[in-house]
Amino acid sequence: MNEQTPVTNVDAAKAPKLPNAETVTEVQHYTDRLFSFKCTRPASLRFRSGEFVMIGLMGDVNPKTGKQMPLLRAYSIASPSWDEEMEFYSIKVQDGPLTSKLQHIKPGDEIIMKPKPVGTLVHDALIPGKRIWFFATGTGFAPFASLLREPQTYQDYDEVIITHTCREEDELIYGRNIIESLKDDELLNEVIGEGFWEKIKYYPTTTREESAKMGRITDLINSGEAYKDLDVAPLSPEHDRAMICGNLAFNLELKDMLEAAGLEEGANSKPAQYVVEKAFLD
Ligand SMILES: Cc1cc2nc3c(=O)[nH]c(=O)nc-3n(C[C@H](O)[C@H](O)[C@H](O)COP(=O)(O)OP(=O)(O)OC[C@H]3O[C@@H](n4cnc5c(N)ncnc54)[C@H](O)[C@@H]3O)c2cc1C
Ligand SMILES: NC(=O)c1ccc[n+]([C@@H]2O[C@H](COP(=O)([O-])OP(=O)(O)OC[C@H]3O[C@@H](n4cnc5c(N)ncnc54)[C@H](OP(=O)(O)O)[C@@H]3O)[C@@H](O)[C@H]2O)c1
Repeated sequence: MNEQTPVTNVDAAKAPKLPNAETVTEVQHYTDRLFSFKCTRPASLRFRSGEFVMIGLMGDVNPKTGKQMPLLRAYSIASPSWDEEMEFYSIKVQDGPLTSKLQHIKPGDEIIMKPKPVGTLVHDALIPGKRIWFFATGTGFAPFASLLREPQTYQDYDEVIITHTCREEDELIYGRNIIESLKDDELLNEVIGEGFWEKIKYYPTTTREESAKMGRITDLINSGEAYKDLDVAPLSPEHDRAMICGNLAFNLELKDMLEAAGLEEGANSKPAQYVVEKAFLD
């Protein structure tokens, strides 16, 4: 009996070091600016595919107060709502307060996750349509990594078009891996039926490095080239629904284009034909 570890010591060893702590289970690096990671999911967390949460790490000790405060940033949840784990797709900003540190996480490390999911890139904010467009630049692909693995996307729409514009080819790797994994997605094949992935049209483009398709998606749509490549009719308010996630200028330009095509912006409280969210603040 003397050999037993006192209960208090066991609890101390198990106690998370951080508030709202989750454990990192997997990390993958794609470029010197991009990585993704998975972590445990809080047992009570419910979210809708496409939403974002606040995640982070403890900041440095404040020399004035001697205290450490959590350093949190908004992150789209890249995993679908049904997944047991959480996945995130992240930028590495070399002098960024959070990502200069976050880029060094390893399996077994802890991150902070505030369990309050919110966001506009959700199916509830759109009225029924035939075809859904997911428009992304850079890490704006993250919410669509979630929605592309969400059965409702294929239940609600006949066609799913995902466009991803990045500067360089390697910045497309994460998105391409997700698209390629869909064919073998057990849940989607079971719930939606084999061959569901034929509904998907993937349109990756680069702007500053040679690739199979070059150009900003906005320009490719305006010139009609994207419609031709994808073999689809131009955007119409009757059939098309859209979600936009990229840098501010991209979001605004695309928003104007959708409005000009007759689509109206929706929200959780007032569903309509398209929704938009920033991939980062600037
Ligand atoms: C609703 C929402 C969802 C977001 N989802 C994600 C996500 O899924 N993945 C992600 O990496 N970031 C996401 N961000 C951005 C994220 O919140 C942080 O800005 C990012 O993690 C960098 O944090 P930081 O403290 O290192 O630098 P910050 O001080 O936050 O940013 C420094 C600068 O880096 C640039 N920057 C920041 N984020 C990005 C980015 N994602 N892509 C390109 N340049 C960027 C901007 O120029 C910014 O001014 C999201 C932001 C919002 C508002
Ligand atoms: N990506 C890199 O290699 C790199 C390296 C070092 C630093 N940075 C810095 O990191 C920040 C974010 O860079 P990022 O590449 O992740 O994101 P970004 O600048 O938002 O660019 C991502 C993609 O969106 C395109 N785009 C930008 N504005 C658009 C618009 N109005 N309409 C349509 N497409 C648009 C870009 O095309 P264009 O190329 O035509 O702009 C690019 O292909 C920037 O401040 C950048 O200076 C980036």
